[in-house]
Amino acid sequence: MKTRIFLLLISSTLTLIFTSCSDMRVDVQPAPEVGVHPEGIINPKSSNFHGVLIQNINWKMNECQNCHAADYSGGITGASCLTCHTQPAGPEACNTCHGVFNNPNIIAPNKGAHYKHLYTASSGKSVECIACHIVPEQFKSVGHIDDSKGAEINFGSIALTETNEPGTQDYDASLSLFTPVPTYNKTSQTCSNTYCHGYFKNGNTENAVSFTVGSNGAKCGSCHGDAATGNPLPKTSAQGGTHPNVTSCNACHSGVVDLVNGNWVISDPTKHINGLLNIFGQERDY
Ligand code: HEC
Ligand code: HEC
Ligand code: HEC
Ligand code: HEC
Ligand code: HEC
Ligand code: HEC
Repeated sequence: MKTRIFLLLISSTLTLIFTSCSDMRVDVQPAPEVGVHPEGIINPKSSNFHGVLIQNINWKMNECQNCHAADYSGGITGASCLTCHTQPAGPEACNTCHGVFNNPNIIAPNKGAHYKHLYTASSGKSVECIACHIVPEQFKSVGHIDDSKGAEINFGSIALTETNEPGTQDYDASLSLFTPVPTYNKTSQTCSNTYCHGYFKNGNTENAVSFTVGSNGAKCGSCHGDAATGNPLPKTSAQGGTHPNVTSCNACHSGVVDLVNGNWVISDPTKHINGLLNIFGQERDY
């Protein structure tokens, strides 16, 4: 396919130099019945569908622009992409590849980390793309499409939140500064060393969470407290920490948690895992 397009490109360029556009299709190639593309170019069910062709050339749409014009309006082909791709950026609109055709919202595939963070998040602040990826401004922004297949993980500021910062109200000189160095393991699909999952003051700094089905990453006690019993009480002096050894969480963290049928539940997810300590009705850097 690649070679074919390439040859066609050369031939159509040569043809353009020596003849007029209207002769383009008859000159070098035998007059094609179905045009330059194999049949199925606009049939989403065909293996020749143009979306598939683009994927096969690692999304290098400049190869299409060579004939269909830089602005995709058709150029020498007379076949515009914009009749169907009606967003201002044409086929480069984010939703063309990340979501529903012609719905301008970006929708990431509902699987893996996305499943829990974007679509079924119930215990914490909703997580935005930028928490885990560099979000390109445009399709052609540097770093977006590269030669290594698949998405890159680049943690944003929330995962990097430092805690026990000197000068903050709750600073404890007996503990050092907690500086997360978040890492993502592509093979095991596991995140470790993130603020969000426990790398913070009195938290479970060793916690590594996997995004495979059945993962217990959202269970009370997994990020702070005891993962085995589910008790969320952060490390007290008995475990080398500084959190008060009192289990009635909502006495001090009211508005974040509630006791329901003997279990602590998050009553306001916007205040939980937001990078700030919610205590005594205040929101503090800590
Ligand atoms: C060598 C020039 C050339 C290149 C390169 C090229 N096309 Fe085309 N394309 C054409 C021509 C000419 C037509 C109109 C005739 C036809 O349908 O074959 C066309 C038609 C189409 C159509 C059908 C449009 C319609 O309204 O029916 C689609 C879709 C399309 N091209 C997508 C692509 C994509 C995607 C790429 C890049 C992977 C690409 N083309 C690369 C020349 C080219
Ligand atoms: C006749 C309408 C039509 C034309 C013309 C058209 N497209 Fe598409 N294109 C679609 C539809 C519909 C989809 C989504 C198919 C789906 O979701 O199954 C799509 C999907 C795509 C995708 C997404 C591929 C993926 O796998 O996510 C890209 C990229 C794309 N088109 C680029 C182009 C380019 C470049 C052109 C012009 C060269 C073009 N399209 C012309 C209808 C069109
Ligand atoms: C909590 C972290 C997290 C958030 C938030 C997140 N992603 Fe991802 N994303 C991942 C991980 C992990 C992968 C899998 C990377 C791998 O192993 O290849 C991934 C993969 C992807 C892929 C490749 C999908 C595939 O099928 O290969 C795309 C595209 C993507 N993300 C876009 C987005 C967009 C757009 C958003 C926001 C709407 C978003 N992500 C939000 C963690 C995240
Ligand atoms: C023509 C298809 C296409 C379009 C249009 C597109 N993307 Fe992507 N995007 C991809 C692919 C493919 C990947 C996976 C990265 C790779 O394979 O190198 C990706 C990856 C991503 C990721 C994960 C981080 C990364 O770079 O790996 C984010 C976030 C993202 N895209 C957002 C956007 C946004 C925002 C837009 C609009 C400005 C956009 N994309 C437009 C195909 C597209
Ligand atoms: C995914 C990791 C994670 C899980 C699971 C988790 N927490 Fe948290 N929790 C945090 C982080 C991070 C903080 C630090 C403060 C912040 O950013 O909101 C925190 C803080 C708290 C606080 C202090 C108030 C606040 O938000 O600042 C309470 C109370 C709390 N969690 C209760 C719970 C309870 C109850 C559960 C189980 C329903 C739970 N947590 C499960 C990560 C988690
Ligand atoms: C008597 C008041 C009080 C109660 C009750 C309390 N906390 Fe805290 N909590 C604090 C104070 C004070 C801090 C900040 C000081 C510190 O870091 O030790 C804090 C901080 C936290 C943090 C951030 C990490 C840390 O230690 O700085 C988490 C998470 C947390 N509490 C969860 C809980 C959970 C879950 C419960 C219930 C099992 C609970 N707290 C009960 C007073 C309380």
